[in-house]
Amino acid sequence: MQDPQEQVTRIREAFEQEFGRFADLSLNGGSLADAEALLREINELKLRHTGKKSEIAGAMKLVGKVAPEERAVFGQLVQSVEKGIVSRIGLVEMKLNEFISNAKSDSERLDVTLPGRRPRVGHLHPITILRQRIEDIFVSMGYAIEDDREIETDYYNFDALNIPDGHPARESQDTFYTTDGFALRSQTSTVQIRAMERRGVPIRILAPGRVFRRDTPDMTHTPMFHQLEGLCVDKGITMAHLKGTVTEWLKRLFGEDTITRFRPSYFPFTEPSAEFDFSCFKCNGTGEVKGERCRPCKGSAWIELGGSGMVHPNVLKAVGVDPNVYSGFAFGFGLERMCSLMYSLDDIRLMFDNDVRFLEQFR
Ligand code: DAH
Repeated sequence: MQDPQEQVTRIREAFEQEFGRFADLSLNGGSLADAEALLREINELKLRHTGKKSEIAGAMKLVGKVAPEERAVFGQLVQSVEKGIVSRIGLVEMKLNEFISNAKSDSERLDVTLPGRRPRVGHLHPITILRQRIEDIFVSMGYAIEDDREIETDYYNFDALNIPDGHPARESQDTFYTTDGFALRSQTSTVQIRAMERRGVPIRILAPGRVFRRDTPDMTHTPMFHQLEGLCVDKGITMAHLKGTVTEWLKRLFGEDTITRFRPSYFPFTEPSAEFDFSCFKCNGTGEVKGERCRPCKGSAWIELGGSGMVHPNVLKAVGVDPNVYSGFAFGFGLERMCSLMYSLDDIRLMFDNDVRFLEQFR
């Protein structure tokens, strides 16, 4: 059997050898990652050289085997070697932990004197804000919001809406066509047909959406804009319901005092047809603001908004509804014009430039 003294010396030397590279550890210029790697290594070393299964713990068991007169000295030797191992590892651990915690707090340090960075909160486009306000009003009156396609066949864009061949709106200078002969819808009235085909009657819908026309952009025209289309079909629907509905939503949007006016007009898909105006929200229908001509209504006291009428019997027939049993009203208007009047914008193209400095003003 090996001499216990020698065995302990060997254990100490083996430790010294492995521990060597930690003995005068300098972390100057080292990175956090380096220090963390070293800490993992020293932990492994600790596992091997201290604790119950380590060689030095094994040496303790030899105490009983040495001659009684040497026992005390040998016991002290083993203890001091073990103490040495534990304390040297402990010192390195401490050094590393201190370095790591300093490095971490350095990298996470908060400079409270830096100016704050304000998060830029997004918001809706003015057209969307207005559309949603109007949608809310109609939903509260029992209407469903109807969404539909922007690319249509001539049948839905024109024929089913009683727009005969040869009608000026069918000319290609008004409507965009794809190379396959599909039309970009030039009005949301197409949704009247789609919705009645899908849902049948009775029906109450509000259809917002983009429409396209071959217009050269200027202050009041853009080749793409938004419309809102309303449709109500049931038994016994009359022009009174149309006037009541249009008046009610305009009152809810612009205030109780708002009044509406209907002027005879012509649309292929309604009979009779009417254009509707409402009393100017700015001058309350007086045409003047502080003695000056009112801007939105140009001093006329009225703002022209859209078209409307009683759904033409041919439109009802096109979707298989008997015009002798059912009747209905429809209306449609553009959102850009309404929005530019409300916000006093003199150029509707601003609404499509998407310049954040402009859009930020409307929340
Ligand atoms: N579609 C028409 C246009 O774009 C607006 C319109 C008029 C819609 C009368 C209607 C209506 O529903 O009944 O100018």
